Amino acid sequence: MSFWFDTNMKKIVTTLQGIKSNTPPIWLMRQAGRYLPEYLATRAKAGSFLDLCYIPELAAEVTMQPLRRFQFDAAILFSDILVIPHALGQTLTFAENHGPQLGEMPLDLSFESSTFHYKLQPVYQAVEAIQHGLKKEEFEETALIGFSGSPWTLACYMVDRKGSKDFSNTRLTALREEEKFQALIDILVKAVSEYCIQQINHGAEIIQLFDSWAGVLPENQFFKWVIRPTEQIVKNIRKIHPHTPIIGFPKGAGLLYFDYVKICQVSGVGLDAQTPLNWVQEHLQPLVPVQGNLDPFILAAGGPNLLKEADNIISKLGEYPFIFNLGHGIDKSTPPEHVLQLVNFIRNRKNG
Ligand code: CP3
Repeated sequence: MSFWFDTNMKKIVTTLQGIKSNTPPIWLMRQAGRYLPEYLATRAKAGSFLDLCYIPELAAEVTMQPLRRFQFDAAILFSDILVIPHALGQTLTFAENHGPQLGEMPLDLSFESSTFHYKLQPVYQAVEAIQHGLKKEEFEETALIGFSGSPWTLACYMVDRKGSKDFSNTRLTALREEEKFQALIDILVKAVSEYCIQQINHGAEIIQLFDSWAGVLPENQFFKWVIRPTEQIVKNIRKIHPHTPIIGFPKGAGLLYFDYVKICQVSGVGLDAQTPLNWVQEHLQPLVPVQGNLDPFILAAGGPNLLKEADNIISKLGEYPFIFNLGHGIDKSTPPEHVLQLVNFIRNRKNG
């Protein structure tokens, strides 16, 4: 009997409230992207990746594309974490096959709320356009995830100004010029909090905070630059939107996942593919619903191993409320048929 089940509630939202369903909800990080031919066609029409992010109708279109194929339980706003540094005045380009490149950090970097939100209007309009699209195409059970980069990961790109193996410039700056770095993090805490609140105001139903480079920091700095800022952001969002679930994704946190979950009070936590499932079961699942953590290359490679590994994850994590996802973004080499095979498998398998 499930008379308590509110039919207006979407499966991924109830899961984040701690209620288990028959089969876990599923979505994939970077589910809209280069592995889909229709994405490549829309990106070509937009001109560049950043244009695609800033043209609300096209951002909404690419958000819908993976839903039409796979009926995921969640849509994720199509954008990029780096629109925040961009809105704070740092130039940003995505050169073909070179990843992001940022300009000098403005010396007078500060947070001016109205300019910041003005520049991010197209993102908020995309959120509205996606909600409109979900209704129009009758994806009534699909929840819309908004997102932001977390301060540490944003600072990594802002200081190093491009992708890096270890973000050594950022790490040295954090150590050598701690006060200045703290001031940057403080600005980012404000910016990220307001950005997420605005996304919720415009229709986001869940927020995910991406801290992709959390794993490069030793314990004390992890507390200072990952846990404390995230704890503050969660509090700021909850002051305005107490019921919107917040998923934290401190990639590479290892054993520090435990402190992150306990202190930040996130509603759910995203696991990278390296986190051992037995440890998660014992230490994290009693505290919080978890999301993850299939290795994206297992999905890209496919074959019998794909379903074996997916089965292993559900049999270990499916006892508690759990969201199926990858441990990081989908790789562009992934054949869409593998995604379909995975989704069908998850939907037809009994949970637990
Ligand atoms: O998940 C989704 O479908 C939503 C869209 C989304 C993108 N980026 C689109 C994107 C999200 C949630 C992100 C987050 C993001 N962006 C992160 C955090 C997650 C992670 O992957 O660790 C980071 C670190 C970035 C910064 C970024 N954006 C990098 C380093 C790159 C280049 C690497 C790459 O994959 O090309 C991007 C580009 C980017 N962001 C693409 C997409 C679909 C590829 C751009 C293209 O179409 O060529």
